[in-house]
Amino acid sequence: LMTAVAAAALTTGATGAMAACDDGEIVIKFSHVTNTDKHPKGIAASLLQERVNEEMNGKACMEVYPNSTLYNDDQVLEAMLNGDVQMAAPSLSKFEQFTKVFRIFDLPFMFLNMEAVDAFQNSETGQEMKESMVRRGLLGLGFWHNGMKQMSANKPLMMPEDAAGLKFRVQPSEVLKAQFEALDASPQPMAFSEVYGALQTGVVDGQENTWSNVYGQKFFEVQDGTTETNHGVLDYMVVTSADWWDSLDEDVRSQLETIVNEVTETRNAAIAEVDAENRQAVLDAGGEIRELTPEQREAWVNAMKPVWEQFTDDVGQENIDAAQAFNS
Ligand code: LMR
Repeated sequence: LMTAVAAAALTTGATGAMAACDDGEIVIKFSHVTNTDKHPKGIAASLLQERVNEEMNGKACMEVYPNSTLYNDDQVLEAMLNGDVQMAAPSLSKFEQFTKVFRIFDLPFMFLNMEAVDAFQNSETGQEMKESMVRRGLLGLGFWHNGMKQMSANKPLMMPEDAAGLKFRVQPSEVLKAQFEALDASPQPMAFSEVYGALQTGVVDGQENTWSNVYGQKFFEVQDGTTETNHGVLDYMVVTSADWWDSLDEDVRSQLETIVNEVTETRNAAIAEVDAENRQAVLDAGGEIRELTPEQREAWVNAMKPVWEQFTDDVGQENIDAAQAFNS
């Protein structure tokens, strides 16, 4: 017999889940904000759900809520500390209230490509970052990749001067605010689910995001074009409540940890392919993509990189050096 909750979920379509948890199973709610189809996070979360529900049947049960249907990223970490949700994977720009160590990922032109990001995250320095929020109640379980960010606006962006005077939506990160201020633009923090409408109505002029988000949220429909700047990275930390994690029986915890690690490894290894697919999907849907000449790109680097100086104390010069070593 279908439970009332499952029936309601079917009617509203609120879950991608339909996991119909059985009595006695530990319920693991995973909340996120992106689409599921073609999206690196959506795919990874769905795979995690599938594996948990198959391999841990009788012990645990996962319900994934995508597309900000349960919480947006401004709410989800509070909800996690309250025990209302057990897992999420917000972008590294969304942890300002908990730690400053992730600011290194927001610094413009810190990483040359996703290989460098991957190597840094898997280094000892990167792995230690998973524990950086434990005293605030959050435990990181792994980094999930999305990709390098591109920039778009309601006019062509070929040189940094083109961004001057425009309003750009940013994630709630001090580094990202400083980055747009360095371009004499005006940063506007805003929830992900509101960006399309804000671009459409002109509340903001532009935005920065990865190909999967530009495609998944259809930003290209309401922008003049997207410039392939690869100026920064947008990646995720899979997080859980440290108290909840500690409350699990050892066998449950270690089985769950193994599944998370395997999903992380599998999906991170597929990131180049998923990213390229989304870039192509933007083109196929009629979106305009603008490439920069090496000289143009250099101008963006020169305009934005001075932002590093403002945050060196927060992220540590030794971590910057470690990150840079992976760029060659
Ligand atoms: C954003 O807010 O732009 C991203 O963090 C959304 C996401 O989860 O990819």
